[in-house]
Amino acid sequence: MFSPSMLGGDFSRAAEALEAISSSGAEYAHFDVMDGSFVPEISFGAKFISDLRPYSKVIFDVHLMINRPEDHIERFAAAGANMISVHAESTNHLWRVLNLIKECGADCSVAINPGTPVSFIEPVLPIVDYVLVMTVNPGWGGQRFIPQCLDKIKELDSRRQDEGYSYLIEADGGIGRSNAKTLFDAGLDIAVMGSAFFAEDDKASFLREIEESL
Ligand code: DX5
Ligand code: ZN
Repeated sequence: MFSPSMLGGDFSRAAEALEAISSSGAEYAHFDVMDGSFVPEISFGAKFISDLRPYSKVIFDVHLMINRPEDHIERFAAAGANMISVHAESTNHLWRVLNLIKECGADCSVAINPGTPVSFIEPVLPIVDYVLVMTVNPGWGGQRFIPQCLDKIKELDSRRQDEGYSYLIEADGGIGRSNAKTLFDAGLDIAVMGSAFFAEDDKASFLREIEESL
């Protein structure tokens, strides 16, 4: 499955970018929220998401790259997020914030930076709906994939088989034609793609081509 990232689109024509995602056949649309503190850049807040919500029925996948995410969950859920990812490195209250996401009616996801091992999130693996493995340093689109992160996808895949966990595995950053198959073969369920997706004229055939290669 695919979650094209709005960050790769043109914000001055955001509804068209979202339409390009919906009509490509992707199951998800990925929204990168940055606060200028957890990551250096600032992107957008809940209003951007609620303004776009009526334009698409795809699953809104909201990736919070913000400190103290527990202070903002209600707002993003009310804006129309269907799933919300919080970084394990961004809060002292990971267990609480993941449960808060569920209480607000969204699916919960825990994200880890390239330097954070899977063992760091081990206690929450039984309760999460998704694990988001960052395959670049969060904060910018268009970066190069960090190959060492592939092992975390394999590790998460074997852990869920061994323990019977039900989370889906998502990867984010530097994904495109050259490495998508390797990631899916390693156990990935959802590929986030920003620059690679928006660089394509025919986005539907691009996604289909990757799917058919699997
Ligand atoms: C990076 C963001 C990504 C970004 C990916 O911090 O979390 O979602 O949009 O962009 P690409 O696919 O260009 O690496
Ligand atoms: Zn992201």
